[in-house]
Amino acid sequence: MTAVGASLPRKDAFDKLKGVAKYIDDYNFTDLVHIFTVRSEHAYGKIISIDKTEAEKMPGVLGVVTCDMVPGKNIVPLVMFDEPFLAKDYVRFHGEPVALVVAETYEQAVMAAPFVKVQVEPLKPILTIKESLDPNAPKLHGTDNVFSKYNVEKGNAEEAMKKAVHVFEREYTTPYQEHAYLETNGAIAVPGIEDSMTVYGSMQCPFYVHDAVAAAAGIEKNKVRVVQTTTGGGFGGKEDFPSVVAGHATIVAKLFNRPAKLIYKREEDIISSSKRHPSLVKVKVGTDEKGKIVAAVLEYYTDGGAYSTLTPIVLWRGTVHALGPYECDHIHVKSFGVATNKVPCGAYRGFGSPQTVFAAESLMDEIADELHMDPIELRKLNCYKLGSRTATNQVIDQSCGLLETIERAQEHSKWTNKWANPATKTGNLRRGIGISLVYYGVGLGAGGKKLDRCGSSITLLRDGSVHCAVGNVEMGQGARTVLAQIAADALGADFSSVNVVETDTALVPDSGPTVASRTTFMSGNALMLAAKQLRPSLLTAAAELLEAASPDDVELFEGKAYIKADKNGRSVSFKDVCGKLYDERLMPSAFGWFKAPDSNYNQADGQGNAYFVYSYCTNIAEVEVDMDTGEYKVLKITSAHDMGKAINPQQVEGQIEGGTLQGMGYGTTEEIRHDAKGKMLNNAFSTYILPTFVDAPEIEPIIVEHAYDKGPYGAKGFGEVPLMGVAPAIVNAIHNATGKRIRSIPVKPEKILGLDE
Ligand code: MTE
Ligand code: MOS
Repeated sequence: MTAVGASLPRKDAFDKLKGVAKYIDDYNFTDLVHIFTVRSEHAYGKIISIDKTEAEKMPGVLGVVTCDMVPGKNIVPLVMFDEPFLAKDYVRFHGEPVALVVAETYEQAVMAAPFVKVQVEPLKPILTIKESLDPNAPKLHGTDNVFSKYNVEKGNAEEAMKKAVHVFEREYTTPYQEHAYLETNGAIAVPGIEDSMTVYGSMQCPFYVHDAVAAAAGIEKNKVRVVQTTTGGGFGGKEDFPSVVAGHATIVAKLFNRPAKLIYKREEDIISSSKRHPSLVKVKVGTDEKGKIVAAVLEYYTDGGAYSTLTPIVLWRGTVHALGPYECDHIHVKSFGVATNKVPCGAYRGFGSPQTVFAAESLMDEIADELHMDPIELRKLNCYKLGSRTATNQVIDQSCGLLETIERAQEHSKWTNKWANPATKTGNLRRGIGISLVYYGVGLGAGGKKLDRCGSSITLLRDGSVHCAVGNVEMGQGARTVLAQIAADALGADFSSVNVVETDTALVPDSGPTVASRTTFMSGNALMLAAKQLRPSLLTAAAELLEAASPDDVELFEGKAYIKADKNGRSVSFKDVCGKLYDERLMPSAFGWFKAPDSNYNQADGQGNAYFVYSYCTNIAEVEVDMDTGEYKVLKITSAHDMGKAINPQQVEGQIEGGTLQGMGYGTTEEIRHDAKGKMLNNAFSTYILPTFVDAPEIEPIIVEHAYDKGPYGAKGFGEVPLMGVAPAIVNAIHNATGKRIRSIPVKPEKILGLDE
């Protein structure tokens, strides 16, 4: 049996289960100083003065750090370089870091923080997309409050719309979503010899943090080392924000020349770390008499918050994918990421797509309803098949399992009996079923093409064990295990002998971020390239041991080498082969560098091959609604995915289960509220309501494999997809049960009762 395709146990499972895995807060260093952050109490205002005298007199306090003390540059190095490490002149959101209290203990730092007196002249904050785009609004960014905008235009949608037989036009809104990873943000910066700095921390993107540490300390990148520690979940939230946290720890470590530790409390984390963008999506779709889409016009607005962070990248993905996986020759999508005085928004599983998926998949259902069609038939009629062209006019030329995901989910959920069963749609408790489709461009795509490369190294040790260093991280999604499976088969080693170590920027060059479900594909391919270079050494050593005439006669598989022609004859172990390789002074270490297949797009009309390949999914949700109270239960979600190849089927199922529950929270309970002054009202898990075990529906994962020829063993990547279409499937199921259409998530009972639209 090969390692690839087997549900092998996770490499990190036992340490995590036993409680011995070391998260950042578990690390200690001699001479450690502790940091607590002083934050803005105002959503918007001018800083008049910061008085630290009282705070600096408090016990244990070593100092209070403000923006003018940053040793390097006071700017977080992310896409648009507009966010300061510490607020200067203005505060732009409630919770923004203004100063850092440094003390001998964490408690002393916390105690002193309220004594830092920040005097602010409050300004009227901008709190919504509408307010921000008002021509008379004060300008938070540029001349129009727009961080970034895109235009995707194929054919002539406005003209084609005039010829459509049916035209549907709706607006949909979506809320913030908080990542709620188990482990809050944290970092420790340790000053070293000759001005160097090593930073340990919980993160998704060690190379972004690498940039941030160099910038904050004002040192060259060759003096910086970033080591990712066991990370208790990221979900996109630890893409941008660890740059801020690690930057703060670095600033303090540099100024005080002592190791500095910064660990966030949950309330701080929720109030200041990036979230999923709230959105407004306007969709207009025209069809022919049979429901075939002939034109689509979409406007997509996201609330980016006070700083741009990842808004441009997140918005691009949402724009390109806006209509969903449906053929349409005439499409026009315009999108805008706007500035407000709220917490900056960044990446969250799905990356700007779940918002438009909610809008498009809701509208598809509304169309089916008005045309008296089964929503599945409408989708089958319009959805991508091999040969279809996307909104950017890219031909889907391989690995498109969308139709199969629909059919498998339809069959497993017994859709046809349930959707049209009138007996379940009357009375007090009503049952309904709803569907949604998702497609997802794997990797960074044309927008982030320059970052879509990565490195991996493999070193064979004398004892037959294998050391792999990769540039993407493990954050709970199972990367270390999946990559070990790929490396094991590519080398012919046994899975148990392969160790993929935690990511360390000293071991691998900048491999881009761990986002966009790219790890299996990118790091997997880089490992395969490294393994390919080591195979000749291994086979030469094995041939010597087996006294084979040539290395070509030898096979190496699952930790054993044997003569190909004599499969059941003599064999030698991988360990002996590695020993021999060292004795013969053959190359024991190799580096693989993988460049993603090409993608491209034209800035003006967004046309081009946006992504090298897409993954696909169908979600079918079943609900039961109490018509008296508006309360409802999600009974079951059937979730069918084409990810090319399931390297580890059990982990694929785990991703589907976790992502489904996050998607259910997005559709049903999760939202962040602000008061009229822009203060976040619910920065705790008692008031930010997440689904738990108790709320979890039955989840049926279905694996569909349409291999991608450039993927490692056919794999594409799909880590984010399980979340993306759950909310609209639930909303569509609620409509099927009750006849009530809800165009704004989360669906609270009062919306079902029509009390709060
Ligand atoms: N699963 C767990 N357990 N923890 C996480 O933080 N992040 C998600 C997804 N699944 C995440 C997760 C997100 S946002 C992404 S982009 C992918 O995993 C990244 O993993 P991959 O590149 O290995 O697919
Ligand atoms: Mo995932 S949102 O791309 O980190």
